[in-house]
Amino acid sequence: MDLYIDGQAIPLLESEGDTLLRLSLAAGIPHQHACGGEARCSTCRVRVLEGADLLAPPTAAERKLAKSLAFPPEIRLACQCRPRVKGKGRVSVQRLIRDTLDAENLLAIDEAGVREMNLVILFSDLRGFTSFAEPLLPYDTVHILNRYFRVMGDAVLNHHGVIDKYMGDGLMALFGVEGEACEQAAENGLRAGLAMLEALESFNGYLVDNGYRGEPLAMGVGIHAGTVVYGDMGHPGQVSRTAIGDPVNVASRLESATKEAGHPILVSEDFKRLLNGRLHSAGELEVALKGKSEPTLASKAIGLAGSPRCQPDQVSS
Ligand code: FES
Repeated sequence: MDLYIDGQAIPLLESEGDTLLRLSLAAGIPHQHACGGEARCSTCRVRVLEGADLLAPPTAAERKLAKSLAFPPEIRLACQCRPRVKGKGRVSVQRLIRDTLDAENLLAIDEAGVREMNLVILFSDLRGFTSFAEPLLPYDTVHILNRYFRVMGDAVLNHHGVIDKYMGDGLMALFGVEGEACEQAAENGLRAGLAMLEALESFNGYLVDNGYRGEPLAMGVGIHAGTVVYGDMGHPGQVSRTAIGDPVNVASRLESATKEAGHPILVSEDFKRLLNGRLHSAGELEVALKGKSEPTLASKAIGLAGSPRCQPDQVSS
């Protein structure tokens, strides 16, 4: 058979069993494959223009992904699709994601080592800071925020976490990026969350001691665990390393839900399971998470076997 990708003839010598993606890359075509050929993205997608019957049928993984993305039959995943090279005829496919920017991004993504990982995600947010900061001069606000992020950041770093980003007076942290076991990452994440609440008390004391007026600040912490895509993302000239995926959204929404729950740390069921019965909690509640049709069960964390317990009044109601 003859194979053409984007109109370019592809050598097929000794290629029985190779996927379209492998053949395409071997021929020097900058073919997108963000997940590394694991049927976990869809960036390698091609449109079959000719010779569909000379391609092996979709694998189970390809069928699942094609169904979820509602692909028509002529769209195939190049990383899952194998040409029947001993067949007679011509196969012609066209990459769908293929302009110059995509080719540049392909290089950036390969260098970054973007990959799926099981991580623990922690979100924290300060409550009442907007009104607290209203009468302050901007330099004072920066000074206080830097002091706050210093003490909260210490709580994360001292428990082997990574500060992923700052968002206003909020913070996102990840645990497990060094490849720690999920159980260890979960323990580190919870210990960090508890340490943050403890640090908030002395931070409020610092504000009073230094003449800053206003109500004591409160905070909310949401923790979840799950599979995310982790790596460098953004403009190739200014990337930032971060995690993307539904578990990140869930952690963020748990943090938001601490306010109505009247408790400073909410953790998900998936996260709780990783602690193997060692979570001390003040009860469970069903939380309606924005964007989710079903409510999610969350636990009001107060401690971990072997750690000090937090006080529920550390969150504003
Ligand atoms: S490379 Fe990700 S699905 Fe093919």
